[in-house]
Amino acid sequence: MTSSMDTQTPEPQAICNPITSSAIFIVATLLPGSDAASQVRGWCGDIAALTRSVGKRVPNGNLSCVCGFSASAWDALFGSPRPASLHPFREFGVEGRRAVATPGDILLHIRADQMDLCFELATQLCSALNGAITVVDEVQGFRYFDMRSIIGFVDGTENPVGRKADHFTLIGNEDPAFESGSYVLVQKYLHKMEAWNALSVEAQEKVIGRTKLADIELGEEVKPSNSHSALTTITKDGQEQKILRDNMPFGRPGAGEFGTYFIGYARSPEPIEQMLENMFVGNPVGNYDRLLDFSTAVTGGLFFVPSADLLEELAEREPEQA
Ligand code: HEM
Repeated sequence: MTSSMDTQTPEPQAICNPITSSAIFIVATLLPGSDAASQVRGWCGDIAALTRSVGKRVPNGNLSCVCGFSASAWDALFGSPRPASLHPFREFGVEGRRAVATPGDILLHIRADQMDLCFELATQLCSALNGAITVVDEVQGFRYFDMRSIIGFVDGTENPVGRKADHFTLIGNEDPAFESGSYVLVQKYLHKMEAWNALSVEAQEKVIGRTKLADIELGEEVKPSNSHSALTTITKDGQEQKILRDNMPFGRPGAGEFGTYFIGYARSPEPIEQMLENMFVGNPVGNYDRLLDFSTAVTGGLFFVPSADLLEELAEREPEQA
Protein backbone atom coordinates (compact mmCIF):
# COMPACT_ATOMS: atom_id res chain seq x y z
CA MET A 1 0.00 0.00 0.00
CA THR A 2 1.20 3.51 -0.73
CA SER A 3 0.75 6.58 1.39
CA SER A 4 0.33 10.10 0.08
CA MET A 5 2.38 11.28 3.11
CA ASP A 6 5.45 9.73 1.52
CA THR A 7 7.24 12.41 -0.52
CA GLN A 8 8.58 9.77 -2.96
CA THR A 9 5.03 8.85 -3.90
CA PRO A 10 3.31 11.04 -6.50
CA GLU A 11 0.51 13.22 -5.17
CA PRO A 12 -2.88 11.84 -6.19
CA GLN A 13 -5.64 14.05 -7.58
CA ALA A 14 -8.38 14.93 -5.07
CA ILE A 15 -10.04 11.50 -5.31
CA CYS A 16 -10.42 10.85 -1.59
CA ASN A 17 -11.56 14.37 -0.69
CA PRO A 18 -14.62 14.46 1.55
CA ILE A 19 -18.05 14.33 -0.04
CA THR A 20 -19.33 17.86 -0.68
CA SER A 21 -22.79 19.32 -1.03
CA SER A 22 -22.45 20.23 -4.72
CA ALA A 23 -20.79 18.73 -7.77
CA ILE A 24 -20.60 19.18 -11.52
CA PHE A 25 -19.84 16.22 -13.78
CA ILE A 26 -18.71 17.02 -17.31
CA VAL A 27 -18.01 14.46 -20.02
CA ALA A 28 -16.51 15.72 -23.28
CA THR A 29 -15.24 14.23 -26.51
CA LEU A 30 -11.96 15.31 -28.08
CA LEU A 31 -12.14 17.00 -31.47
CA PRO A 32 -9.92 15.45 -34.15
CA GLY A 33 -6.58 16.93 -35.13
CA SER A 34 -3.22 17.70 -33.62
CA ASP A 35 -4.15 21.29 -32.64
CA ALA A 36 -6.96 20.07 -30.41
CA ALA A 37 -4.68 17.44 -28.88
CA SER A 38 -1.93 19.91 -28.09
CA GLN A 39 -4.47 22.37 -26.61
CA VAL A 40 -5.74 19.63 -24.25
CA ARG A 41 -2.18 18.65 -23.29
CA GLY A 42 -1.35 22.26 -22.44
CA TRP A 43 -4.58 22.51 -20.40
CA CYS A 44 -3.46 19.54 -18.27
CA GLY A 45 -0.76 21.81 -16.87
CA ASP A 46 -3.30 24.55 -16.03
CA ILE A 47 -5.95 22.57 -14.12
CA ALA A 48 -4.29 22.79 -10.71
CA ALA A 49 -3.61 26.54 -11.02
CA LEU A 50 -7.18 27.27 -12.15
CA THR A 51 -8.53 25.21 -9.23
CA ARG A 52 -6.33 27.18 -6.82
CA SER A 53 -7.42 30.53 -8.29
CA VAL A 54 -11.12 29.77 -8.01
CA GLY A 55 -10.88 27.92 -4.68
CA LYS A 56 -8.89 30.65 -2.94
CA ARG A 57 -11.87 32.97 -3.16
CA VAL A 58 -13.87 30.81 -0.69
CA PRO A 59 -11.31 29.34 1.73
CA ASN A 60 -13.66 26.81 3.36
CA GLY A 61 -15.45 25.88 0.17
CA ASN A 62 -13.61 22.54 -0.38
CA LEU A 63 -13.28 23.09 -4.11
CA SER A 64 -11.58 20.25 -5.96
CA CYS A 65 -11.36 18.86 -9.47
CA VAL A 66 -10.52 15.37 -10.67
CA CYS A 67 -9.78 14.87 -14.34
CA GLY A 68 -9.79 11.55 -16.19
CA PHE A 69 -9.17 10.28 -19.75
CA SER A 70 -10.75 7.44 -21.72
CA ALA A 71 -8.61 4.73 -23.34
CA SER A 72 -8.85 6.21 -26.83
CA ALA A 73 -8.21 9.75 -25.57
CA TRP A 74 -5.13 8.53 -23.71
CA ASP A 75 -3.72 7.00 -26.87
CA ALA A 76 -4.48 10.07 -28.98
CA LEU A 77 -3.20 12.59 -26.45
CA PHE A 78 -0.33 10.90 -24.67
CA GLY A 79 0.60 7.63 -26.46
CA SER A 80 2.79 5.24 -24.53
CA PRO A 81 3.38 4.37 -21.80
CA ARG A 82 -0.29 3.80 -21.12
CA PRO A 83 -2.04 2.73 -17.89
CA ALA A 84 -1.98 -1.08 -17.72
CA SER A 85 -5.72 -1.66 -17.20
CA LEU A 86 -7.19 1.17 -19.27
CA HIS A 87 -9.63 -0.08 -21.89
CA PRO A 88 -12.85 1.16 -23.47
CA PHE A 89 -15.86 0.71 -21.19
CA ARG A 90 -17.41 -2.74 -21.68
CA GLU A 91 -21.19 -2.93 -21.66
CA PHE A 92 -22.98 -5.35 -19.33
CA GLY A 93 -26.49 -6.75 -19.29
CA VAL A 94 -29.29 -7.50 -21.69
CA GLU A 95 -31.70 -5.42 -23.76
CA GLY A 96 -33.84 -3.35 -21.41
CA ARG A 97 -31.32 -3.73 -18.58
CA ARG A 98 -27.98 -2.63 -19.88
CA ALA A 99 -25.00 -0.71 -18.56
CA VAL A 100 -24.55 1.29 -21.76
CA ALA A 101 -21.26 2.71 -23.04
CA THR A 102 -21.66 6.26 -24.34
CA PRO A 103 -19.15 8.65 -25.97
CA GLY A 104 -16.70 10.43 -23.69
CA ASP A 105 -12.95 11.16 -23.75
CA ILE A 106 -12.46 13.56 -20.85
CA LEU A 107 -14.20 13.49 -17.46
CA LEU A 108 -14.27 16.39 -15.02
CA HIS A 109 -15.50 15.71 -11.49
CA ILE A 110 -15.76 19.10 -9.81
CA ARG A 111 -16.79 19.25 -6.16
CA ALA A 112 -17.36 22.02 -3.61
CA ASP A 113 -19.65 22.98 -0.79
CA GLN A 114 -21.14 25.76 -2.90
CA MET A 115 -22.43 25.43 -6.45
CA ASP A 116 -21.00 28.83 -7.39
CA LEU A 117 -17.47 27.45 -6.88
CA CYS A 118 -18.19 24.39 -9.04
CA PHE A 119 -19.83 26.58 -11.66
CA GLU A 120 -16.95 29.06 -11.85
CA LEU A 121 -14.32 26.34 -12.10
CA ALA A 122 -16.32 24.47 -14.75
CA THR A 123 -16.60 27.74 -16.69
CA GLN A 124 -12.84 28.38 -16.52
CA LEU A 125 -11.89 24.79 -17.40
CA CYS A 126 -14.31 24.58 -20.32
CA SER A 127 -13.33 27.96 -21.69
CA ALA A 128 -9.67 26.89 -21.71
CA LEU A 129 -10.73 23.86 -23.79
CA ASN A 130 -12.89 25.84 -26.20
CA GLY A 131 -12.28 24.64 -29.76
CA ALA A 132 -10.68 21.35 -28.65
CA ILE A 133 -13.65 19.46 -27.18
CA THR A 134 -17.41 18.94 -27.43
CA VAL A 135 -19.20 18.62 -24.11
CA VAL A 136 -21.56 15.64 -24.45
CA ASP A 137 -22.96 15.50 -20.92
CA GLU A 138 -23.06 17.96 -18.06
CA VAL A 139 -24.83 17.31 -14.76
CA GLN A 140 -25.15 19.48 -11.67
CA GLY A 141 -25.55 17.30 -8.58
CA PHE A 142 -26.76 18.39 -5.16
CA ARG A 143 -26.82 16.96 -1.66
CA TYR A 144 -30.28 15.70 -0.75
CA PHE A 145 -31.19 15.80 2.96
CA ASP A 146 -29.03 13.51 5.15
CA MET A 147 -26.77 12.22 2.35
CA ARG A 148 -29.73 10.45 0.75
CA SER A 149 -29.93 9.46 -2.88
CA ILE A 150 -32.98 10.72 -4.74
CA ILE A 151 -34.70 7.40 -3.99
CA GLY A 152 -34.61 8.27 -0.29
CA PHE A 153 -31.88 5.94 1.04
CA VAL A 154 -28.64 7.20 2.58
CA ASP A 155 -25.91 6.73 -0.04
CA GLY A 156 -22.18 6.26 0.59
CA THR A 157 -22.30 4.65 4.05
CA GLU A 158 -20.11 1.65 3.23
CA ASN A 159 -17.43 3.73 1.50
CA PRO A 160 -13.88 3.03 2.68
CA VAL A 161 -12.33 5.92 4.65
CA GLY A 162 -8.81 7.08 5.56
CA ARG A 163 -5.98 4.72 4.58
CA LYS A 164 -8.47 2.14 3.35
CA ALA A 165 -9.83 4.68 0.87
CA ASP A 166 -6.27 5.28 -0.42
CA HIS A 167 -5.60 1.54 -0.53
CA PHE A 168 -8.70 0.73 -2.58
CA THR A 169 -8.46 3.67 -4.97
CA LEU A 170 -4.80 4.51 -5.63
CA ILE A 171 -2.50 2.50 -7.91
CA GLY A 172 0.66 1.26 -6.20
CA ASN A 173 3.52 -0.98 -7.33
CA GLU A 174 1.33 -2.96 -9.72
CA ASP A 175 1.81 -0.21 -12.36
CA PRO A 176 4.78 1.91 -11.20
CA ALA A 177 4.66 4.48 -14.01
CA PHE A 178 1.09 5.30 -12.98
CA GLU A 179 1.46 5.21 -9.20
CA SER A 180 -1.18 7.25 -7.30
CA GLY A 181 -3.43 7.17 -10.37
CA SER A 182 -6.90 5.64 -10.30
CA TYR A 183 -9.73 4.35 -12.50
CA VAL A 184 -13.20 5.84 -12.42
CA LEU A 185 -16.55 4.72 -13.76
CA VAL A 186 -19.41 7.16 -14.28
CA GLN A 187 -23.01 6.33 -15.13
CA LYS A 188 -26.01 8.59 -15.24
CA TYR A 189 -29.14 6.82 -13.96
CA LEU A 190 -32.77 7.91 -14.27
CA HIS A 191 -35.29 6.53 -11.79
CA LYS A 192 -38.91 5.47 -12.30
CA MET A 193 -40.10 7.35 -9.25
CA GLU A 194 -43.79 6.52 -9.55
CA ALA A 195 -43.13 2.80 -9.50
CA TRP A 196 -40.51 3.20 -6.77
CA ASN A 197 -42.81 5.27 -4.57
CA ALA A 198 -45.59 2.73 -5.07
CA LEU A 199 -43.49 0.19 -3.12
CA SER A 200 -43.91 -0.01 0.64
CA VAL A 201 -40.93 1.08 2.73
CA GLU A 202 -40.34 -2.60 3.66
CA ALA A 203 -40.25 -3.57 -0.03
CA GLN A 204 -37.83 -0.71 -0.82
CA GLU A 205 -35.59 -1.83 2.05
CA LYS A 206 -35.42 -5.30 0.48
CA VAL A 207 -34.34 -3.71 -2.82
CA ILE A 208 -31.45 -1.81 -1.21
CA GLY A 209 -30.66 -4.29 1.57
CA ARG A 210 -30.67 -1.61 4.29
CA THR A 211 -33.30 0.10 6.44
CA LYS A 212 -34.55 3.40 5.05
CA LEU A 213 -34.72 5.72 8.06
CA ALA A 214 -31.80 4.45 10.15
CA ASP A 215 -29.65 3.16 7.24
CA ILE A 216 -28.78 -0.13 8.93
CA GLU A 217 -27.83 -3.18 6.88
CA LEU A 218 -30.48 -5.92 6.86
CA GLY A 219 -29.42 -9.15 8.54
CA GLU A 220 -28.22 -11.95 6.24
CA GLU A 221 -31.37 -13.99 6.98
CA VAL A 222 -33.68 -11.28 5.60
CA LYS A 223 -31.49 -9.51 3.00
CA PRO A 224 -32.52 -10.79 -0.46
CA SER A 225 -29.74 -12.10 -2.73
CA ASN A 226 -30.94 -9.70 -5.45
CA SER A 227 -30.65 -6.63 -3.21
CA HIS A 228 -28.28 -3.87 -4.26
CA SER A 229 -26.18 -4.34 -1.14
CA ALA A 230 -25.83 -8.11 -1.65
CA LEU A 231 -24.78 -7.81 -5.30
CA THR A 232 -22.28 -5.00 -4.81
CA THR A 233 -20.50 -6.66 -1.88
CA ILE A 234 -17.69 -8.60 -3.54
CA THR A 235 -14.66 -10.49 -2.32
CA LYS A 236 -11.38 -11.59 -3.90
CA ASP A 237 -9.19 -14.23 -2.25
CA GLY A 238 -11.39 -13.95 0.83
CA GLN A 239 -10.94 -10.16 1.10
CA GLU A 240 -13.78 -7.70 0.58
CA GLN A 241 -13.09 -5.42 -2.42
CA LYS A 242 -14.31 -1.86 -1.96
CA ILE A 243 -14.66 1.06 -4.32
CA LEU A 244 -15.06 4.75 -3.42
CA ARG A 245 -18.38 6.25 -4.51
CA ASP A 246 -19.38 9.90 -4.59
CA ASN A 247 -22.84 9.69 -6.17
CA MET A 248 -24.97 12.81 -6.41
CA PRO A 249 -28.71 13.28 -6.92
CA PHE A 250 -29.78 15.49 -9.80
CA GLY A 251 -33.00 16.19 -11.62
CA ARG A 252 -35.65 18.48 -13.02
CA PRO A 253 -38.93 17.88 -11.19
CA GLY A 254 -40.91 19.85 -13.76
CA ALA A 255 -39.68 17.50 -16.48
CA GLY A 256 -40.25 14.40 -14.36
CA GLU A 257 -36.49 13.73 -14.26
CA PHE A 258 -35.08 12.19 -11.07
CA GLY A 259 -31.55 10.85 -11.25
CA THR A 260 -28.46 9.50 -9.58
CA TYR A 261 -25.08 10.37 -11.05
CA PHE A 262 -23.00 7.34 -10.10
CA ILE A 263 -19.24 7.79 -9.78
CA GLY A 264 -16.97 5.04 -8.46
CA TYR A 265 -13.16 5.09 -8.08
CA ALA A 266 -10.89 2.04 -7.73
CA ARG A 267 -7.23 1.17 -8.31
CA SER A 268 -8.30 -1.23 -11.06
CA PRO A 269 -11.44 -1.41 -13.23
CA GLU A 270 -11.91 -5.03 -12.13
CA PRO A 271 -13.97 -4.61 -8.92
CA ILE A 272 -16.20 -1.99 -10.55
CA GLU A 273 -16.81 -4.27 -13.52
CA GLN A 274 -17.51 -7.22 -11.23
CA MET A 275 -20.16 -5.15 -9.44
CA LEU A 276 -21.71 -4.13 -12.76
CA GLU A 277 -21.79 -7.72 -13.90
CA ASN A 278 -23.47 -8.78 -10.66
CA MET A 279 -25.98 -5.94 -10.93
CA PHE A 280 -26.87 -6.19 -14.64
CA VAL A 281 -26.24 -9.85 -15.53
CA GLY A 282 -26.86 -11.24 -12.06
CA ASN A 283 -25.12 -13.48 -9.56
CA PRO A 284 -25.91 -16.20 -10.37
CA VAL A 285 -26.93 -15.19 -13.90
CA GLY A 286 -30.54 -13.93 -13.83
CA ASN A 287 -30.41 -12.93 -10.16
CA TYR A 288 -29.95 -9.27 -11.14
CA ASP A 289 -30.13 -6.13 -8.97
CA ARG A 290 -33.77 -5.31 -8.22
CA LEU A 291 -32.79 -1.60 -8.12
CA LEU A 292 -32.50 -1.83 -11.92
CA ASP A 293 -36.26 -2.44 -12.18
CA PHE A 294 -36.53 1.20 -11.09
CA SER A 295 -33.34 2.68 -12.56
CA THR A 296 -32.01 2.99 -16.11
CA ALA A 297 -28.39 3.76 -16.97
CA VAL A 298 -28.42 6.33 -19.79
CA THR A 299 -24.67 7.02 -19.95
CA GLY A 300 -21.51 5.09 -19.07
CA GLY A 301 -17.77 5.58 -19.34
CA LEU A 302 -14.49 4.36 -17.87
CA PHE A 303 -11.61 6.81 -17.38
CA PHE A 304 -8.07 6.80 -16.05
CA VAL A 305 -7.19 9.48 -13.49
CA PRO A 306 -3.45 10.23 -13.53
CA SER A 307 -1.76 11.39 -10.31
CA ALA A 308 -1.69 15.17 -9.85
CA ASP A 309 2.05 15.14 -10.58
CA LEU A 310 1.65 13.12 -13.77
CA LEU A 311 -1.24 15.34 -14.90
CA GLU A 312 1.10 18.36 -14.82
CA GLU A 313 3.84 16.42 -16.63
CA LEU A 314 1.43 15.34 -19.37
CA ALA A 315 1.37 18.96 -20.55
CA GLU A 316 4.91 18.35 -21.89
CA ARG A 317 4.26 14.88 -23.35
CA GLU A 318 4.97 14.52 -27.08
CA PRO A 319 3.37 11.26 -28.22
CA GLU A 320 5.08 9.55 -31.17
CA GLN A 321 2.99 9.98 -34.30
CA ALA A 322 1.30 6.78 -35.51
C1 HEM B 1 -28.96 3.52 -9.60
C2 HEM B 1 -27.87 4.02 -9.11
C3 HEM B 1 -27.43 3.69 -7.71
C4 HEM B 1 -28.01 4.06 -6.53
C5 HEM B 1 -29.24 4.93 -6.33
C6 HEM B 1 -27.23 3.46 -5.47
C7 HEM B 1 -27.52 3.60 -4.12
C8 HEM B 1 -26.88 2.90 -3.12
C9 HEM B 1 -27.27 2.90 -1.73
C10 HEM B 1 -28.47 3.67 -1.16
C11 HEM B 1 -26.41 2.11 -1.06
C12 HEM B 1 -26.42 1.77 0.44
C13 HEM B 1 -25.58 2.66 1.30
C14 HEM B 1 -24.13 2.71 0.98
O1 HEM B 1 -23.75 3.53 0.15
O2 HEM B 1 -23.32 1.92 1.49
C15 HEM B 1 -25.44 1.62 -2.02
C16 HEM B 1 -24.39 0.80 -1.72
C17 HEM B 1 -23.43 0.41 -2.62
N1 HEM B 1 -23.43 0.63 -3.97
FE1 HEM B 1 -24.84 1.64 -4.99
N2 HEM B 1 -26.19 2.77 -6.02
C18 HEM B 1 -26.27 2.87 -7.39
C19 HEM B 1 -25.43 2.29 -8.32
C20 HEM B 1 -24.30 1.57 -8.02
C21 HEM B 1 -23.37 1.04 -8.98
C22 HEM B 1 -23.49 1.19 -10.49
C23 HEM B 1 -22.37 0.42 -8.27
C24 HEM B 1 -21.13 -0.29 -8.74
C25 HEM B 1 -20.69 -0.38 -9.97
C26 HEM B 1 -22.70 0.56 -6.86
C27 HEM B 1 -21.93 0.09 -5.82
C28 HEM B 1 -22.29 0.11 -4.50
C29 HEM B 1 -21.49 -0.46 -3.43
C30 HEM B 1 -20.10 -1.11 -3.56
C31 HEM B 1 -22.22 -0.29 -2.24
C32 HEM B 1 -21.79 -0.74 -0.83
C33 HEM B 1 -22.19 -2.19 -0.62
C34 HEM B 1 -21.83 -2.65 0.78
O3 HEM B 1 -20.63 -2.68 1.09
O4 HEM B 1 -22.75 -2.93 1.54
N3 HEM B 1 -23.87 1.26 -6.75
N4 HEM B 1 -25.75 2.11 -3.27
